[in-house]
Amino acid sequence: MEDGEEGEEYLFKIVIIGDSAVGKSNLLSRYARNEFNINSKATIGVEFQTQSVDIDGKEVKAQIWDTAGQERFRAVTSAYYRGAVGALIVYDISRRTTFDSVSRWLQELSTHSDTTIARMLVGNKCDLDDIREVSVEDGKSLAEAEGLFFIETSALDSTNVQKAFEIVIGDIY
Ligand code: GTP
Ligand code: MG
Repeated sequence: MEDGEEGEEYLFKIVIIGDSAVGKSNLLSRYARNEFNINSKATIGVEFQTQSVDIDGKEVKAQIWDTAGQERFRAVTSAYYRGAVGALIVYDISRRTTFDSVSRWLQELSTHSDTTIARMLVGNKCDLDDIREVSVEDGKSLAEAEGLFFIETSALDSTNVQKAFEIVIGDIY
């Protein structure tokens, strides 16, 4: 936290994690730039975007970090998580294996972050309801069991994308 020109300013680091191709990079580009890429390439290393959010009339800056789901493309794990106060753990509702991986991602998150971190379980690609492999109930009950927020999103049609980030940012704040 630091003093900005217009009074107090807050900067929060948020990380996005989850298996490859669940839509992490597209959730971030939809949120930060209102962009979606149908042919997006797998992320290599780390990218981040800073987004200003108005919470109760205060300007909050979220620095949102996105890394590769694929092990071989990932950056140094401890550096990625360092200082994070929020996390989105993303799976793809049309691929069960990505939901099965959530516990592994939660394990890694808890190894590298503070227990007070705000965590949101995100079932992305809810536009693919006709080929769904993970029910809303399964998502909800995992979130309840692990003490996470839960939401289903679509980076493609924008459903709940802003809400997913702003619930996490609002909880931190
Ligand atoms: P890594 O960088 O490899 O970890 O993958 P990622 O999680 O960043 O996935 P990415 O955002 O690159 O998206 C993977 C593919 O899924 C791309 O073809 C996207 O266009 C597609 N995709 C992302 N979000 C959605 C969504 O909400 N709905 C649908 N139908 N497709 C999506
Ligand atoms: Mg990516």
